[in-house]
This record gives sequence, structure tokens and C-alpha cells, in this order.
Amino acid sequence: MSTLTVRKLNVDLSSGFARHWLGGDVYRTAFMNALSMSFPLGEQMFIDSVRAAPLDAIPDPALRAEVKDFVGQEASHRFVHQQYNAELARQGFGYTLEAEIRARIELVSKLPALDRLAITCAFEHYTAMLADYVLRHPEWLDGADPQMRTLWSWHAAEESEHKAVAFDVYRAAGGGYRKRVLWYLHVSLIFFWDSGRQTMHNLRRDRAAWRWSTWASAARAWFGRKGLAWHLLKPGLDYLAPRFHPWQHDNRALLQTWLDRNDDSYRAIGSTSA
Ligand SMILES: [Fe+2]
Ligand SMILES: [Fe+2]
Repeated sequence: MSTLTVRKLNVDLSSGFARHWLGGDVYRTAFMNALSMSFPLGEQMFIDSVRAAPLDAIPDPALRAEVKDFVGQEASHRFVHQQYNAELARQGFGYTLEAEIRARIELVSKLPALDRLAITCAFEHYTAMLADYVLRHPEWLDGADPQMRTLWSWHAAEESEHKAVAFDVYRAAGGGYRKRVLWYLHVSLIFFWDSGRQTMHNLRRDRAAWRWSTWASAARAWFGRKGLAWHLLKPGLDYLAPRFHPWQHDNRALLQTWLDRNDDSYRAIGSTSA
């Protein structure tokens, strides 16, 4: 029996959202939009890598059930972010890195299953750290379009909920420390390089790349009192520990609180594997 639940989000983006939907903050909107652009391709890569793990590497039936629900959750994230990104395209914001990322994912798909899993574990650690930030500091989304606040918080809750699935599959499949950490260091560079470049593209498209206010907001977002950089530092380094496991950072109460308080924002379609 899986501990995960697949949920359908009660959000309709067909009538769009404001260009600066995050409280009018140009930098933070551009950064969140850059993340959203990367999700449909990235999350498909996570799904494919977990599915490529040999089933006999997952003897634990509970973990096998969680893999199924992990796929269900990531697939529903892809669906919602495709609608989100379609609205961005209507606003004139294209995913400029798309061809490059597709080519890179094509290369990744040719790697051995354990390397693909290690890459997914690393990206899942980044999504889990960002998700914890969004849930722990709801003021990050202050002033956001209400639907967008719901969308990001829901995604954050589910990323937290399933943060150990790829990791547990990697270990069950015999994945070791060295490979996990080497790919993590690589993925860390890729994550900041890609999200930084796409954020810059979005800002240029918005004619806001060279405004003082844009970079004042960026400095606050990353290095202010509750900045992202300080939040990522400790869990980012914790991943390097040989005995690291994602649930050593236990934020179950935090994600459950969001789910309980916002249960009118989604419909649980249950555990697909129960
Ligand atoms: Fe996701
Ligand atoms: Fe995920």
C-alpha cells in the first residue's frame, strides 16, 4: 500500500493569469516561470528513469506501489504545467532552452539505469528543497494570483510527499554513494545554470533585465533574511553525507498542514495502486 495520493487540482488556467502574477514582482515571476518551463520535459525524464529501473530491483511491494503513484503525481504536474506554459507562450515567453534540454535528455536516456536514477534523485532533491521553502515560507507567494498560489503550493506538497521515492528505488537497485554524489554535483551546476539562463531570457523578453528594481528583488529573494540561498545551504550539503536519506529532513507535518487547510483545492483520486 502506497503512502502517496494522486490528486487532481481544481485550477483552471484557461482564462490566463497576469504577466507579473507573483505580486507584481518581475524577478520572482520570471524565476518561477523558468522553473515551470523546465517541468514538462524534466518530470517526464524522472518518470522514465524510475520506470526503467528493473522491477526485480524493487522487491518491496510498498515501494513498487509508491513508484506507480510517483508516476501519477509527476504526470499530473506535467499536465498542469503544460497549461501554465501555454499561457506563458501566449504572453510571449517561450522556453528558449527547449531544444538544448531535449538533446541532453536524449543523451541521458542512453545511460545505464542507475545513472539515470542518480540524476533523478539529484533533481528530486532540488525540487524537495524548493518545495520545503515554498511551504515553510508562504510569504514567498504573497500577492500571487490565487490560482497560481494554489498550483505552486500543491506541487510543493506533492514534491515533498514523494521526495524519497526515486532515492529508495536507487538504493534498492544497488546504487552507491559515489555515483549518487558525483551526479548530484553535476546536476547542481546544471540546475543553477539552466534556471539562471531561462530566468534571464524571461527578464529580457520582459525588458526588465537591466532594471535596478529587478536585481534588488533578486538579491532579496536569494540573500535576504529568509532568502533561498540560506534555505538551500544546509540540506544542499546534507545530500553529500554517506548516510543521507531524504526523510532525515522530516517535513511531513508541514505538507500535511497545507493539504488539510486546502482540501477544497484538489480532489484526491486516491492511491492508484491501493
Ligand atoms: Fe513534480
Ligand atoms: Fe518530483
